[in-house]
Amino acid sequence: MEISPSGPLRGAVRLPGDKSISHRYAILAALAEGSTRIRNYSSGADCASTLGALRALGVPVEREASEVTIRGRGPDGLRAPKETIDAGNSGSTIRMLSGVLAAQPFTSRISGDASLSRRPMDRIMRPLGEMGAVIRAREGRFPPLEIEGRPLRPISYALPVASAQVKTCVLLAGLFAPGRTTVIEPVPTRDHTEIALREFGADVEVDGRRISVEGPARLRPRELWVPGDLSSAAFFLVAATLIPGSLVTLERVGLNPRRAALLDFLAGLGARIRILGLEQAHGEPVGDLEVEHAPVRGGRIEGGLTAALIDEIPVLAVLGAVTREGLEVRDAAELRVKETDRIASVAENLRRMGVRIETRDDGFFVPGNQHFEGAEVDSFGDHRIAMAFAVAALAARGPSRILNAEAASVSYPEFFDTLQSLRS
Ligand code: S3P
Repeated sequence: MEISPSGPLRGAVRLPGDKSISHRYAILAALAEGSTRIRNYSSGADCASTLGALRALGVPVEREASEVTIRGRGPDGLRAPKETIDAGNSGSTIRMLSGVLAAQPFTSRISGDASLSRRPMDRIMRPLGEMGAVIRAREGRFPPLEIEGRPLRPISYALPVASAQVKTCVLLAGLFAPGRTTVIEPVPTRDHTEIALREFGADVEVDGRRISVEGPARLRPRELWVPGDLSSAAFFLVAATLIPGSLVTLERVGLNPRRAALLDFLAGLGARIRILGLEQAHGEPVGDLEVEHAPVRGGRIEGGLTAALIDEIPVLAVLGAVTREGLEVRDAAELRVKETDRIASVAENLRRMGVRIETRDDGFFVPGNQHFEGAEVDSFGDHRIAMAFAVAALAARGPSRILNAEAASVSYPEFFDTLQSLRS
């Protein structure tokens, strides 16, 4: 993909449905008793992987563009898959679904692509093992997983790493365990599962960083709409902030406070973002965002803020280069076990564009007042790296090329077309 430097970005964008919420709605719909219709389901390949996995488990799933209908067969309605379930590139699919598979009266195998096969699964194997499931993995921690379902017992589990995927995995398993399953988080992570569980009628209790679910649960089907994906919106928020003369509206974006820390952080740097017309969709706040170009100062992301911004850090690193004082990121060792080692991928591409960055084990520092040279960069197969460096390329001094740009389709297949439509 060739990208030339851009003039102002102007126009309105309707984003694909939130990836995190889409996965959760689909899985819960499959466990509910009856038909759930989900509108604005994410167009990304990751969420298609979840639908494929549910079909492999015998759940009737129909899809027409962004509308998905899932005929849930209740908590005992899944069938043993005939073949290995393919989670593709999706960490959410394998980790969340494993919580359900752990409770089934059959054994299943689940695997993924080369990137997913390098991502750690011991973080879910431990709690699910404590609940009674038997799980085997390559080298004890990598996919493929073989999951021998068992009648589960409820546990109380303190998460060693901040992870909404692991929290969700344990809570989903808890739906099948008679009694109260509790997860204690080290720092708050996205709470879409808690909100969605309530929507589907489960008994969920939240007490600070302790989240409990009561099993066995019976879920009721729903009519749902998925808010626009704020993590996809982030690329346009940064691009419009970077490029003089830009004014972009992002319509009906999910503004869950655990995700919208992004907006506060950007505003703190001096970004000009306005929230227009707040509404609620099934317990999730939604609003339109208007963003215009603004000069930005530097900032620091650490502790709980790192967990809140984890998916946006690649594109924030790009912004960091043009801030006044630079961007420091700490407590972000998790970035090393995402779709790629995102500290390494960001550093490699920034350097190819002539931008300095100092890396650390758990983060990096991008000094400010720099500029991007046009260059050949690589997504390394990681969707967020592809899109982050498309943004950098817009602001570069010459044309750039992004290798493996099609990786963007993992969360946002329409990204490059939409970006083009905003260029004047
Ligand atoms: C997600 C949680 C985060 C995030 C991922 C989606 C979710 O992962 O990076 O893109 O939907 O729960 P971790 O929970 O592994 O941090």
